[in-house]
Amino acid sequence: MKHGAFILCFALSYCFHEGALSRTINGQRTWPVPYRRYDHRPKTDPYCQALYPFCPTGDRDGRIPYLRDTDVVEVFRLQAPVWEFKYGDLLGKVHIMHDAIGFRSSETGRNYTMEWYELFQLGNCTFPHLRAELSAPFWCNQGAACFFEGIDDVHWMQNGTLEKIGKMTGAQFNEFAKWAQKDNETGIFYETWTVRADPSQNSTTWFDSYDCSQFVHRAYRKMAEMGVTLTSSTKTSYTKIYLFSGEPSYLGNDSTIFGQPSAKALADSIRSFYNAFRPHQSPQNFILSLLEILENVVLDKTFYLLYNFEYWHLPMKAPYLRITYEEVPLP
Ligand SMILES: *[C@@H]1O[C@H](CO)[C@@H](O)[C@H](O)[C@H]1NC(C)=O
Ligand SMILES: *[C@@H]1O[C@H](CO)[C@@H](O)[C@H](O)[C@H]1NC(C)=O
Ligand SMILES: *[C@@H]1O[C@H](CO)[C@@H](O)[C@H](O)[C@H]1NC(C)=O
Ligand SMILES: *[C@@H]1O[C@H](CO)[C@@H](O)[C@H](O)[C@H]1NC(C)=O
Ligand SMILES: *[C@@H]1O[C@H](CO)[C@@H](O)[C@H](O)[C@H]1NC(C)=O
Ligand SMILES: *[C@@H]1O[C@H](CO)[C@@H](O)[C@H](O)[C@H]1NC(C)=O
Repeated sequence: MKHGAFILCFALSYCFHEGALSRTINGQRTWPVPYRRYDHRPKTDPYCQALYPFCPTGDRDGRIPYLRDTDVVEVFRLQAPVWEFKYGDLLGKVHIMHDAIGFRSSETGRNYTMEWYELFQLGNCTFPHLRAELSAPFWCNQGAACFFEGIDDVHWMQNGTLEKIGKMTGAQFNEFAKWAQKDNETGIFYETWTVRADPSQNSTTWFDSYDCSQFVHRAYRKMAEMGVTLTSSTKTSYTKIYLFSGEPSYLGNDSTIFGQPSAKALADSIRSFYNAFRPHQSPQNFILSLLEILENVVLDKTFYLLYNFEYWHLPMKAPYLRITYEEVPLP
């Protein structure tokens, strides 16, 4: 990306809290835990300051041009390595890709890029800040869609993919745009991790990630629902960052854990878990933090995951953590 950045495109009682019970069906939890939708996107906290501005060339209000119903709009699959991960020994071995979607209007000749990524970069979506004045870890973990005019051909083609995968009518594009805006308004936080029972193909998924590639999959599904045919001549693979654990247990939210003296031991344990992570301004530090997690979870077999702004305990098991680049077919 031109805008630089590090985009891409974590004493336990079992589930007897009231809050937890309400999220089960007949006492059985459903896995994966559904990603929570909000009725609107809250303002970001002024504590969260982006090193690189989010969506610098996009429309401030996320407006998407309205195309004539009869227009023919080409759809492109865009993928490129997150540039920071291309350099250096350690980083070169990790295949971390960013995904986006391109559009080109036949009537106007204009083209557009749409991508979904972190407002405050990957490190901030993966590790919280421990602030002396607050008892709960503080997260700058919003992610959002960015729509802007132009496709940077060189960026996508040189080390990645720029492939036409389908076409739609202007009317379908306009419907897709409405869907994307609603998706953006209601799906507000980024989730780095996919948590599964083990690496085998059909193991249980406890939690799904919510990142740039998941946006692309949702968008393709929406297009397919509208009747748009998508085909690719190459394998469509995506980066996944996995954790492996036994059945997770629900712990609570900020007020039930960090607002109650009775939960002090748990609160301390969560804080010290996250305390291990260094400040994470660079991709090198991000990878180092991942390695530190690995060391921690191997020793303690414990990971505290935040999902839907609630904490879960993951009883970790080998192989603990894995970064893969695997195929997800077009719908
Ligand atoms: C935290 O959980 C409690 C108990 O389930 C619930 O009453 C409360 O509304 C939750 N707080 C937030 C901020 O979601
Ligand atoms: C992560 O969040 C902190 C706290 O707001 C901020 O200072 C830092 O710039 C953010 N990192 C990036 C890479 O945006
Ligand atoms: C999505 O939300 C962000 C944050 O409010 C906003 O900057 C962006 O323009 C929105 N994008 C779209 C496509 O609605
Ligand atoms: C998008 O538009 C720019 C500017 O006109 C052009 O340079 C580029 O080749 C176009 N890319 C695609 C994939 O249409
Ligand atoms: C492609 O990768 C090479 C080396 O990894 C780098 O020098 C070049 O700038 C990259 N091109 C783009 C457009 O990112
Ligand atoms: C997947 O599940 C099937 C039955 O549901 C089982 O026979 C097979 O061994 C499983 N595969 C793996 C890789 O665990």
